[in-house]
Amino acid sequence: MTVKTCIFDAYGTLFDVSAAARQLSQESAFPELKFKWKNLADTWRHKQLQYTWLRAITDAHTDFWTVTKDGLDWALESMGLDRDSKLRQRLLDLYWELQAFPEVEEMLLALKKLGKKNAILSNGSPEMLSAAARSANIDHLLDDILSVESVGIFKPSPQVYGLVEKRFSCSKENVLFVSSNGWDAACASGYGFKTAWVNRANEPVDRLPWEPVTIISSLETLPEIANL
Ligand code: LAC
Repeated sequence: MTVKTCIFDAYGTLFDVSAAARQLSQESAFPELKFKWKNLADTWRHKQLQYTWLRAITDAHTDFWTVTKDGLDWALESMGLDRDSKLRQRLLDLYWELQAFPEVEEMLLALKKLGKKNAILSNGSPEMLSAAARSANIDHLLDDILSVESVGIFKPSPQVYGLVEKRFSCSKENVLFVSSNGWDAACASGYGFKTAWVNRANEPVDRLPWEPVTIISSLETLPEIANL
């Protein structure tokens, strides 16, 4: 069935979540990041995601900004970097203006030319997502930005994926869901969407009951997949 709506995860898929730590590692004020920035970015991300899953299964929802700060605080303390309050503040500030991956703007434009609807579906709060889309200058290429805040539970709850059909009055088979998180693409396959996993880091497929339908290494080839 034809793809009518392309739905994108935000963090790690459109926006480069490692960009904040990478950018600060180049500043002379933060020499300790020179060799540690990648480990810090990865640990921050892993903890942030763990907290979303734990809060979802314990019915203890909070907004994504809170788990983003909690994940960073855990990561900084685990690496002995928690005494640098300036570093913490700069990393948090940069999270509101993350860079988009280089191919994103052209890819969204190509999808628009093919007549597809484009939207974000993310754990991010509406404020975080609109700030990131504006700062990456892709807001004009999006038909909407859907946030888990309207259902009060994080991915991969089916309630989150269900937001797409309601908003775009389409059936699951008309949706191509795109994520750089293997677990997110797999769970969206289980929900019934067509899916593409952007496996930028060449990771193994997650051992879950479902798998992504298509695996790509960047978003460059997405318009071809959406048009099949
Ligand atoms: C999001 C996270 C999972 O944007 O990357 O929803």
